[in-house]
Amino acid sequence: MQVKRLSGAVGAEIGGLDLARDINQGVAADIRGLLAEHGVLFFRDQELDAEDQKRVARHFGDIFIHPNFNTGDHDPEIVTIVRAPGDTRIVGEEWHTDTTMMPEPPMGALLYALETPPFGGDTLFASQWLAYDALSDGMKATLANLRCVHSDMKVAGPHNRLNAKRATVIREDENWRPTESVHPVVRTHPDSGKKCLFVNHSYSTRFEGWTVEESKGLLNWLMDWGHRPEFTCRFQWAPKSLAFWDNRSTKHLAVHDVHDHRRVMRRVQVAGGPVV
Ligand code: SIN
Repeated sequence: MQVKRLSGAVGAEIGGLDLARDINQGVAADIRGLLAEHGVLFFRDQELDAEDQKRVARHFGDIFIHPNFNTGDHDPEIVTIVRAPGDTRIVGEEWHTDTTMMPEPPMGALLYALETPPFGGDTLFASQWLAYDALSDGMKATLANLRCVHSDMKVAGPHNRLNAKRATVIREDENWRPTESVHPVVRTHPDSGKKCLFVNHSYSTRFEGWTVEESKGLLNWLMDWGHRPEFTCRFQWAPKSLAFWDNRSTKHLAVHDVHDHRRVMRRVQVAGGPVV
């Protein structure tokens, strides 16, 4: 395996590996180590059908079924993220960690490019251990015992009418109910032992025991701090590229700049454990 860092902060491109052919327990252990070190790994020119992608993902844990994308008309282990010409909203358009309204958010996701636009459609990633590490001792002490409420009210549900604005469809039925969980603001990565900031724009609503109004100033500051340019990298997709991100130590954002072109990605999420 060759490892080429993508920025001074986060992300590495991994060469010399045909994932569908080479994946086994030993290779998965190496990838797990690299993921803990770099936060997100990129693999180019991979021949992966949906079953291959799920087989690779299962080396890192069970496959996570996303409750909001599980519309009942496709394989629930796969989310196909389609950006069609005319879409005014896209999946993942603000800085976020995936699915943190769940009591046990996914540990990571494998996103595979099926169709990419001639320009644009990059994904940005930000290291949340660097974001934490760069805080002052005073701020670290303030955050030590803070917990945050995460909800999917902003990014799902019939009230947002997202299906009218984008090609990737989510549940908008009348039985949908919001999901809410409380997580520590700072978590410790189970493999690296590093402390990571764990708040994000899509799901974090307020600190536990604080009102929304009271939380706003500090919470917004922390969420914005987490994607300062020096904590980030940017990945330019080509068909058959795969990104595998660590959802415990990074945030990401899909850039909404594809204009009249299509972008089609296949995502498999890997189940995670409690946030501690
Ligand atoms: C996501 O947030 O999972 C989607 C990222 C992307 O489409 O680049």
